[in-house]
Amino acid sequence: MSETKTHRIGIIMNGVTGRMGTNQHLMRSLVPIIQQGGVKIGEREFIMPDPILVGRNPVKLEKLRRLSGLEKTSVNLEPLLADPDYPVYFDAQTTDRRCADVMRAIKAGKHVYCEKPIALTCEQAMQMQRAAETAGVKTGVVQDKLWLPGFRKLKRLIDSGCLGRIHSVRGEFGYWVFEGDGAPPQRPSWNYRAEDGGGMALDMLPHWRYLLDNLFGEVKALCCSTRTHVAQRWDESGNPYQCTADDAAYATFELENQIIAQFNSSWATRVRRDDLLTVLVDGDGGSAVAGLRKVWMQPAGATPRAVWNPDIEQPLDFYQQWLEVPDTEPEENAFKAQWELFLRHLVDDTPFRWTLLEGAKGVQLAELAYQSHKQRGWVEVPVLQ
Ligand SMILES: NC(=O)c1ccc[n+]([C@@H]2O[C@H](COP(=O)([O-])OP(=O)(O)OC[C@H]3O[C@@H](n4cnc5c(N)ncnc54)[C@H](O)[C@@H]3O)[C@@H](O)[C@H]2O)c1
Repeated sequence: MSETKTHRIGIIMNGVTGRMGTNQHLMRSLVPIIQQGGVKIGEREFIMPDPILVGRNPVKLEKLRRLSGLEKTSVNLEPLLADPDYPVYFDAQTTDRRCADVMRAIKAGKHVYCEKPIALTCEQAMQMQRAAETAGVKTGVVQDKLWLPGFRKLKRLIDSGCLGRIHSVRGEFGYWVFEGDGAPPQRPSWNYRAEDGGGMALDMLPHWRYLLDNLFGEVKALCCSTRTHVAQRWDESGNPYQCTADDAAYATFELENQIIAQFNSSWATRVRRDDLLTVLVDGDGGSAVAGLRKVWMQPAGATPRAVWNPDIEQPLDFYQQWLEVPDTEPEENAFKAQWELFLRHLVDDTPFRWTLLEGAKGVQLAELAYQSHKQRGWVEVPVLQ
């Protein structure tokens, strides 16, 4: 009987003490991958990630070591970048730190996988992309929404053709993020300070870019207005601070195939819809609404006749008129699913489209959103290559 072959992949995990680093990338992705025995790529062949947890604070690292059951930690990135035992650099630091450290890693010959937004400006993002190309290293950028059960089901519906010709897409994203003077805020305070890399458009337009490009058609133009609805918040130490970043972005996009898409994104809204993110798709064959996990549809042939009459109680229960799209395959955590694909790409060279170039497109859209806001008008989206 042939022996089991294991490809060990050393991964430097920088920013792993943060919210995304700990919850999504470590505890819901790499730890479960290790616990399941690695990523199976052949009858007796596996990829086994071997992460080292990197951070500034030894106390936090020790806590994380105990939580994850992983052994290796370090407070010093530099020697790891020179260590051939770790061919992969992962970055989930705050956005403003990503470009410099990813560039260092690329120059040290590391393959790179990182959170979005990959940089603060499109120019920085393209420098990263070009540096990776020159160094011949592999890259990946988190595009997690593509692996959410709701959006995978929506993609299958669209591909089946049952929505017919799609003409419009409407995304509603957000919830109320507490200011921090009473209930503790749900998100780190840097998100609300522009000087620290915060901002709704910078945060969310990268998500809308890959969602639109991958599900509906390439984004060709946008018009966006941003706002800072909540002027003052309280930070992690309970100190008040002025919000200098936008906490809401109201954007309209034109896609290559005439589809019009609108996305409202707000940290200052209260939810009355199916989920924290819902996307309504209207086509001549039917409509669909996707949330994070569930999808509902209404075929054209079952569209009820709505009649406008405010003098009587609304006779139709609109929510009851939709069919829930059933699950057809087991779903994984979206971050874990993308990690597994990236690990396969590293070892087996399987195709992986979600590279630094795709990440740069997200930063480009965010940058153009701020430009559109400033000039109060439509902006074309040039092709990045
Ligand atoms: N994919 C998604 O859906 C998603 C969701 C939320 C956030 N993000 C992105 O993930 C990244 C991290 O966000 P978060 O919410 O986890 O933030 P966070 O503040 O919880 O974590 C930030 C990390 O950066 C590290 N860091 C900050 N300043 C540092 C410094 N001076 N030196 C060294 N390390 C430093 C922190 O120690 C921490 O590990 C951001 O770029 C954010 O845009 C992505």
